Amino acid sequence: MKKIGVLTSGGDAPGMNAAIRAVVRKGIYHDVEVYGISNGFQGLMEGKIEKMELGSVGDIIQRGGTKLFSARSEKFKTDDGQEEAIEQLRKLGIEGLVVIGGDGSFKGAAKLTEKGIPCIGVPGTIDNDIPGTDFTIGFDTALNTIVEAVDKIRDTATSHERTYVIEVMGRDAGDLALWSGLANGAESVIIPERDEPFENVIERLKRGHARGKRHSIIVLAEGVGSGIELGKRIEQTSKLETRVTVLGHIQRGGRPTGFDRVLASRLGAKAVDLLLAGEAGIMVGIQNNQLTHHRIADVLNKPHNLNMSLYKLMGELSI
Ligand code: F6P
Repeated sequence: MKKIGVLTSGGDAPGMNAAIRAVVRKGIYHDVEVYGISNGFQGLMEGKIEKMELGSVGDIIQRGGTKLFSARSEKFKTDDGQEEAIEQLRKLGIEGLVVIGGDGSFKGAAKLTEKGIPCIGVPGTIDNDIPGTDFTIGFDTALNTIVEAVDKIRDTATSHERTYVIEVMGRDAGDLALWSGLANGAESVIIPERDEPFENVIERLKRGHARGKRHSIIVLAEGVGSGIELGKRIEQTSKLETRVTVLGHIQRGGRPTGFDRVLASRLGAKAVDLLLAGEAGIMVGIQNNQLTHHRIADVLNKPHNLNMSLYKLMGELSI
């Protein structure tokens, strides 16, 4: 393989730039030409492809977002869209692709692989919802953004003796909620993977209040429902003054943490190695701090597994 491409697709995640840098530099290290595709699969269909040099990825390792921009494309899900994309790659002689993104992006990578363009997936999403890897690029940064925000909210919660519901992202996964709940010492975390009876949440709040706690923090994963609704219900039932903060897209931006930069560098470089070794339709991941790889088709068929021992610990520490 002498020419490869790289794109980012789906929701952006801090650390994607470090992954792009690793792909470009590792490709050039192996004497391979690397092409950057802007705006994900949408940009690929439209031929937004440019050759990248060592300097093209200078000064980006520390930046959030993605230098190659991102998009979610409906058209690329169709056969016609995929054929257009393949045509663009063939025109330039690009033989393989590294796709950085989440499960939607991996579906696209699997399709292109089926149709003769070998793709390697690199998991990049703040949601941490991809089977076959303990961590996805961006999760650690988003977690730290939430932790910092909740620390600030806790200050004002204490001053005013209030209960706060914090709604965090994660799509259908509860990882961001669970990890931040544990890191922020929340009273409760409410996640899609576990039913938490409403009475338990109220009971815990009242218990804390009775022993003199001046604030309470409840972290809600967006996949469960609306923080605003939960906040209203909590205030009506507990009679404790309650406020709601929906953290929103602040969780997706910002400088990647050292952990995400290292993870992205390792995964991006490994993806190039696999592509050059003739692999296709594979996702790279990290499990027990070892780089691993799995077939994308298997990854897409598996349910996401949340670390339930953390959920148990959360329950034990928030009595
Ligand atoms: O997948 C990343 C994510 O930020 C999810 O946590 C969230 O549900 C979704 O993307 C939001 O998507 P959009 O940016 O299109 O509103």
